[in-house]
Amino acid sequence: MTRLLIVETSPRGDASVSRNMARRFLADWRATHPGGEVVERDLMETNLAFVSAPWLQAYFTPPEHHTPEMKEALALSDELVAELLNADEIAISTPVYNYNVPALLKAWIDHIVRKGLTLGHDGSGLVTGKKATVLLASGGVYTEGSPIATRDMATPYLRLILNVIGIKDVTFVAGGGAKAVDLGETTMSDFVGRLDGEIKAAAA
Ligand SMILES: Cc1cc2nc3c(=O)[nH]c(=O)nc-3n(C[C@H](O)[C@H](O)[C@H](O)COP(=O)(O)O)c2cc1C
Repeated sequence: MTRLLIVETSPRGDASVSRNMARRFLADWRATHPGGEVVERDLMETNLAFVSAPWLQAYFTPPEHHTPEMKEALALSDELVAELLNADEIAISTPVYNYNVPALLKAWIDHIVRKGLTLGHDGSGLVTGKKATVLLASGGVYTEGSPIATRDMATPYLRLILNVIGIKDVTFVAGGGAKAVDLGETTMSDFVGRLDGEIKAAAA
């Protein structure tokens, strides 16, 4: 049985382009993986904390010396890491905010990049043998040929961090120009429909 972890970040619910892309991806994935298991991690519903002093103290203390408070400080991070390691495939659906990933997604990344669990002490990635799909929605267009393509920090950043933890097979589906949906210039269904081929290929 194949297991998919899908991480969603947009606060916009049904009006979210990246969540609509994720829905399309999920429908395609379920069709091509009958019996597959999907774990949905909605970061809007996850009480994610930013890195704090108690969290760091726990992080840098060997597990055999963890106090109950340290265990508690790392509990969510442990849960998120386990979700990632238990998955065969990962999908991340996210808006682009200020040319990068939203703070919530960065906070998730800070929780899942863990020395000894997802990142080896020698710097090698431990999350191997998995493929990832990133479904990005952005108001502007940053794909090849765009005069503002170099402003997109989200794509290279996500590729880098996924590669660093060991996920080398990463497909990006860029939902660029999503502001057309908000401006009423196109419908959500038409906008996401135009990405159908790419989303289907990623979910295959
Ligand atoms: C705080 C904020 C910052 C944004 N920054 C950018 C940006 O840097 N580049 C861009 O193309 N669009 C930007 N946008 C537009 C969003 O990427 C766009 O609305 C996208 O559809 C949001 O994803 P969602 O529909 O899944 O919520 C920004 C939107 C917000 C709310």
